[in-house]
Amino acid sequence: MTETAKPMTIAGENDSRHHLHPYTQLRELEQEGPLVIVRGEGVQVFDEHGKAYIEGMAGLWCASLGFSEKRLVDAATRQMSTLPYYHSFTGKVPGPVTELVKAMIKWSPVPMARVLFANSGSESNDTAFKLVHYYNNALGRPNKKKIIARNKAYHGVTVAAASMSGLSTMHQGFDLPIPGIVRVSCPHLYQFGLPGETEAEFVERLAQELEDTIAREGADTIAAFIAEPVQGAGGVLIPPAGYFDRVQAILKSHDILFLVDEVITGFGRLGQAFGTQVFDLKPDIITVAKMVTSAYVPLSALYVSDKIYQAVADASAAIGIFGHGYTYSGHPLACAVAIETLRIYESDNVIGHVQKVAPSLQAGLQKFAGHPIVGEARGLGLIGALELAADPSKRLPFDPKRGVGAYFVRRAQAHGLILRVLMGDVIAFSPPLIITEAEIDTMMERTALALADTLAWVQSWRD
Ligand SMILES: Cc1ncc(COP(=O)(O)O)c(C=O)c1O
Repeated sequence: MTETAKPMTIAGENDSRHHLHPYTQLRELEQEGPLVIVRGEGVQVFDEHGKAYIEGMAGLWCASLGFSEKRLVDAATRQMSTLPYYHSFTGKVPGPVTELVKAMIKWSPVPMARVLFANSGSESNDTAFKLVHYYNNALGRPNKKKIIARNKAYHGVTVAAASMSGLSTMHQGFDLPIPGIVRVSCPHLYQFGLPGETEAEFVERLAQELEDTIAREGADTIAAFIAEPVQGAGGVLIPPAGYFDRVQAILKSHDILFLVDEVITGFGRLGQAFGTQVFDLKPDIITVAKMVTSAYVPLSALYVSDKIYQAVADASAAIGIFGHGYTYSGHPLACAVAIETLRIYESDNVIGHVQKVAPSLQAGLQKFAGHPIVGEARGLGLIGALELAADPSKRLPFDPKRGVGAYFVRRAQAHGLILRVLMGDVIAFSPPLIITEAEIDTMMERTALALADTLAWVQSWRD
């Protein structure tokens, strides 16, 4: 390590008593303290004691190019020393915005008219929620405002994004969701299929539920349907064949917009540039974040269709201004890093690499199917999950109070692998896109060790 690359921690001062940690059981943390990560190299990160971990989640599904991509550091440095900040309000724009929009439109999986920037996935989905309102007001349809969102969806934590999300811990205590969100089922056969139900029958049942929901609410009250192509934080839920075809036909027949949240799936996670291509989606808005900058700096964006743009532009003329924008919308630092990230994806053929190594991840996970505490192994591209189960043959989950998934993740960490437990003892895998087959093998070896430890622990308390 060079002198300048020294981690910026002060010896003995990793006391985080004054940090209010996000997504953490705060009382537990007061006792145990955090794991302090100080350095990264390739797909690995290092804690303050020098212990190395494979980052099996790319942080939060985002550090696609790993933790030491110098070309991104250089792009950031160049931009910081040229124009560290400018804004995009009132007809101005920092230079890199124009270049990034051009690159992003080239990447767009379907024809899109405009790109609108924000700073996080949550903000982009909150903005989508607002745009849908603005659009229907512009068209003189003030009652067409409800959003259909799915159980176990994750769209972020701001007020509208959390409301559209379908995970109870995001609502409890916050007085969410706000009114106007209509919930439907999520397409996960393992958890929600009826006994003996085939995949095709399951898809048909969900399609009927959507039709019934629209009929009950009235199509003239429903503005949009929002979905992640593969649900991430809800449990890495891969939709069954035909699901999105049925959903899209129904939305189209009722003039309901389709908002596709590609915050995790955008820019190669599934082995194609977007989930939109994988599932042949026809979105009106696509939200992206995370891998657009390899997570090195915050940036998110919305791709907006011409149909929506035209209505929004007319409304801005009628109102006098499009009254929306963040101080940091299109921040030049974030844009410069995003431009370089997209350039690297192309020059290094990162998506080709994902297609090459993804079978190793998927085959590695499938080897655990049939393990005494694995209910389902699933995945697509470089995302996957092991759903732990007390009785796999009956798809019976563990008592959540046992914390079996959390135990597994602690054991994986002890073996040098960072993974994440999602609700229902689902262990998620979403490594950096640059991971090699050899590193995937190591990740699987450590997974096997953690599973063996977890099985032994489970056997120690159950009869
Ligand atoms: C699908 C999806 N949408 C939105 C978000 C929210 O993004 P952020 O945490 O950047 O606000 C996430 C975060 O994980 C996500 O997975």
